[in-house]
Amino acid sequence: MTFKPVILLSILPVMIAAQAGAADITIACGYQESEMRLCQEAADAWSAESGNHVEVIRAPERSDERYLYILDLLARDDASVDIFQIDVIWPSAMAGDLVDLTEHVPAEERAAFIRTIVDNNTVDGRLVALPWFTDAGMLYYRKDLLDKHALPVPETYGELAETALAVQTAERAGGQADLWGFVFEGQAYEGLTCNALEWISAHGGRILDDDGNIVVDSPASALALGGAAAWVDTIAPPKVTQFVEEDARITFQLGNAVFMRNWPYAWSLLQAEDSAVKGKIGVAPLPKGGVHGQHSAVLGGWQLAVSRFSENQEAAIDFVRYLTSRDEQKRRAIQGSFAPTIADLYQDPEVLDANPFFADLGATLQDAVARPSARTGVQYAQLSTLFWEAAHRTLTGYGTAADNLARLEDRLKLLQDRAGW
Ligand code: GLC
Repeated sequence: MTFKPVILLSILPVMIAAQAGAADITIACGYQESEMRLCQEAADAWSAESGNHVEVIRAPERSDERYLYILDLLARDDASVDIFQIDVIWPSAMAGDLVDLTEHVPAEERAAFIRTIVDNNTVDGRLVALPWFTDAGMLYYRKDLLDKHALPVPETYGELAETALAVQTAERAGGQADLWGFVFEGQAYEGLTCNALEWISAHGGRILDDDGNIVVDSPASALALGGAAAWVDTIAPPKVTQFVEEDARITFQLGNAVFMRNWPYAWSLLQAEDSAVKGKIGVAPLPKGGVHGQHSAVLGGWQLAVSRFSENQEAAIDFVRYLTSRDEQKRRAIQGSFAPTIADLYQDPEVLDANPFFADLGATLQDAVARPSARTGVQYAQLSTLFWEAAHRTLTGYGTAADNLARLEDRLKLLQDRAGW
């Protein structure tokens, strides 16, 4: 946990700033390079404008690690971080420790955000975070390689596997020894929950039904997970079961994969000057489960929230409004392909020029599958852990998909009996 020393160092400027009358704000935002840069630039711009000082600290990489990091600070009434970047799945679990922003944000500013995200961030009538960027799973593909082999963009996971195998086989025979067909996020963590939920829902499966009943152990889920397990060490590298987003992104960016499942942020990095695949890639909806299946993308995304323990709440709220403003979201969309939470930016010519796939992203987001966090609240973390464990066991060959799903269903029922939702 390398971020701790930075937190300690931030105490000194707090004391100096307090004397000078300016506020000193600490924000934990992002992890990878482009987000850190964009966050720091915004911090510098807002500081120059407001006279306040901002300390930008790097959050842990994985969503579930970030969750524990924030819960730990909140549990200790820790005031060292004023602003948190929170995942779309957390508002209901941490609302009590976040400032209600309703009165602090003018109604017209609130109305500009995508309604469903504002609803997600409103817990018991309290708006606990402002939407910063949204996310949906997408299929990245090597346009040049599909063209070369005269193959279409796959519509189903079956086609994806066949195409991945055909291109991988042909290209390896032609000397591209490191090429794999498909990379995704297969480590045992929240990202695998997103991937596995996409596979399952593409086949018509679900984790909970509309009434909160556990329905994960179904033939559809078993077919989906079993299919994914067959990719490992055939069209996907064995180490895909240790991959998080950045591992998949780097593998694809080095030119070592035909297909990749990832979020929108990867686009800007893949299209950067130093990328081996610049100008060679396309983006499509994730495949359907089969001819009778459906395209399915999990809904992700991040919000900005102010800690109840912050000693500079007014300045922190002001900075959150700056970061989530139209201009700043536009800058982040153009430079970092972060998908805006302000609907009309999807029609902005400069935004679309930088991210042509945003033209179709609106529809994907509309149909995106939500993880069952709003219903399960604080129990979601446990539910997700059990779910990704079952998926990871299946991918790594510890039991069949059907056995792991039956076991998962039993464990989820115990959790539901104990905790209720
Ligand atoms: C992305 C999504 C987030 C999700 C995470 C999983 O950051 O925006 O919602 O939980 O990936 O790795």
